[in-house]
Amino acid sequence: MAGAGISTPSGIPDFRSPGSGLYSNLEQYDIPYPEAIFELGYFFVNPKPFFTLAKELYPGNYRPNSAHYFLRLLHDKGLLLRPYTQNIDGLERVAGIPPDRLVEAHGTFATATCTVCQRNFPGEDFRGDVMGDRIPRCPVCTGVVKPDIVFFGEQLPQRFLLHLTDFPMADLLFVIGTSLEVEPFASLAGAVRSSVPRVLINRELVGPFAWQQRHNDVAQLGDVVGGVEKLVELLGWKKEMQTLIQKEKEKVGRGSDPQLPPQPLRSLCWS
Ligand code: OAD
Ligand code: ZN
Repeated sequence: MAGAGISTPSGIPDFRSPGSGLYSNLEQYDIPYPEAIFELGYFFVNPKPFFTLAKELYPGNYRPNSAHYFLRLLHDKGLLLRPYTQNIDGLERVAGIPPDRLVEAHGTFATATCTVCQRNFPGEDFRGDVMGDRIPRCPVCTGVVKPDIVFFGEQLPQRFLLHLTDFPMADLLFVIGTSLEVEPFASLAGAVRSSVPRVLINRELVGPFAWQQRHNDVAQLGDVVGGVEKLVELLGWKKEMQTLIQKEKEKVGRGSDPQLPPQPLRSLCWS
């Protein structure tokens, strides 16, 4: 289970960290209260703030870090049943985890839907609009097209239901970089069998790690990158991890993904 904390080392602010989190840096969005940016009612009145955020998070602006590549390594080794992420930055995909192995519980910019006729489009079709600060419109009915990001009160994607079979099957659960404050995602932490070790890698204790610990819970507190790298070292996978990251960097260098900017990452300026 992953959250915004796995992407802060890539330069994307999380939501709730005091000071640096998105919810405490909303001046530029001109919205009445933080959650308005993900509320349908507000979106229909004023979609601009959401598209300002969309412009920043649209696939191509950021690169994965060790936390994403750790998931990729687990996947390559056939050890990863399925990553459940709350993140909408798409960095699990960029790290090479196939979309059909992933659950992007809060949606994705990879696809978009017309809010009027409900037609579905590839997110790429609207890149020009989003980057040019234009509200994307449906080519068929001219309704506003909304990227398939889950807003508050909206249903989670169908794939989220995979948790019903995945979680009882898991024999280890990683919880990385999330405050576990948003339901129904947060409750998944309680859906693994009680004999299953749960490993939290996060700055602070969250959710059941703070208030309903199990005897076999483990917490590695601190930075996610440091935590993941420590674990990779203990597993004896350091070399493999370095090779993987190097290989992925070279791919970008060879220009296999022309939308990606050159390293280093540009950083966000939220306020
Ligand atoms: P939060 O911002 O609520 O929590 C991020 C967690 O990661 C916090 O516990 C941070 O302390 C921790 N963290 C951040 N950077 C870290 C780092 N470098 N190392 C270690 N820990 C770090 O983000 P989420 O839990 O993902 O909804 O938030 C859940 C949902 O709330 C989001 O998906 C979003 C928002 O409303 C939508 O986008 C629809
Ligand atoms: Zn339409």
